[in-house]
Amino acid sequence: MTTLLLHLADFDEARWAQNFAQALPDVRVVRRGDDYRPDDVDYIFIWKPSPDAFDGLGGLKAILSLGAGVDALLRHPGLPPDVPVVRFMDSDLMQRMSDYVVANVTMHQRLFTRFRRDQLARRWKQLYPPASRHTSVGIMGLGTLGQDAARHLRVFGYPLRGWSRSPKSIEGVEGFVGPEQFDAFLAGTDILVNLLPLTPETHGILNYATFSKLRRDGLDGGPVVINAGRGGHQKDADIVRALTDGTLGAASLDVFEVEPLPQDSPLWGLDNCYFTPHIAAASTEVTGVAYFAKVIEDHEAGLPLPNVIDRRRGY
Ligand code: NDP
Ligand code: OXD
Repeated sequence: MTTLLLHLADFDEARWAQNFAQALPDVRVVRRGDDYRPDDVDYIFIWKPSPDAFDGLGGLKAILSLGAGVDALLRHPGLPPDVPVVRFMDSDLMQRMSDYVVANVTMHQRLFTRFRRDQLARRWKQLYPPASRHTSVGIMGLGTLGQDAARHLRVFGYPLRGWSRSPKSIEGVEGFVGPEQFDAFLAGTDILVNLLPLTPETHGILNYATFSKLRRDGLDGGPVVINAGRGGHQKDADIVRALTDGTLGAASLDVFEVEPLPQDSPLWGLDNCYFTPHIAAASTEVTGVAYFAKVIEDHEAGLPLPNVIDRRRGY
């Protein structure tokens, strides 16, 4: 009998296990601590692996990542080298990430952040938000999420630019490729949206030097950064510095170098920093179970695995 092992942190593992058992009546669904032989495990469904996560799992057919981002998994020293890693991705997750991006881009473009400050200070001050067609949005990462965000933003009339590793041809998006074109990409960007995967090349890319290269004569108050990728992309201290000295007008952060954000982080106290606790587009039980139940069924029936990570690229 096929065996699926669940290994989740931050999520209700028992509930996910119940749902998997219902969706896959012919599969044995087990959790750590249950009575099973590690060698019998065919699939592991995983988020935030512990150091011993893969110990003894000699018969794995695939590693199923609850997250769309697999950086933590790929850094795991015990990750079996030849087992395919499948990441989660579906239209619901894409939609929720695009909702997050649109909400934050429009909030900053319409200067709601400034009006909120004035309201709290009981100050009547008529600022004039630029039209969307005068506010350029630069998307770092034109993969599944970046392209979907671009599709949603295009409807609002924002001039869009995108940065990726390989050239792209996307309607309404001016493309920039690789480190050589990074500065040119930044120079025309008012609102920078990060949807990159975390790899050795992208680690720390949201730093003070990057912020200093963004367009300065666009948004009243200064350029804006929105990070929904990974905390490892940003230097929290550089964000604090840039938000304090005016290099950035504002930031929206869903992710942080250390999560949960430590109580003593100066980010908590900055009124031009808007944050959410890594929930921009979390995988849900309903969609996650439906997706991976089908992955397992299809694979057991001899079909190829979808969304397999390229370990060399790191995403
Ligand atoms: P994809 O793998 O589909 O796309 C990644 C994109 O980044 C590609 O366009 C790729 O370029 C580009 N890229 C990668 N490395 C570089 C580089 N060195 N320089 C320039 N461009 C680069 O990823 P997704 O869109 O599905 O997801 C992106 C990330 O979003 C995930 O890895 C995860 O960390 C994060 N995420 C966050 C969530 C949250 O709730 N905050 C939820 C879900 C995901 P190319 O196309 O040329 O390969
Ligand atoms: C993901 C996430 O990678 O929620 O899916 O961060």
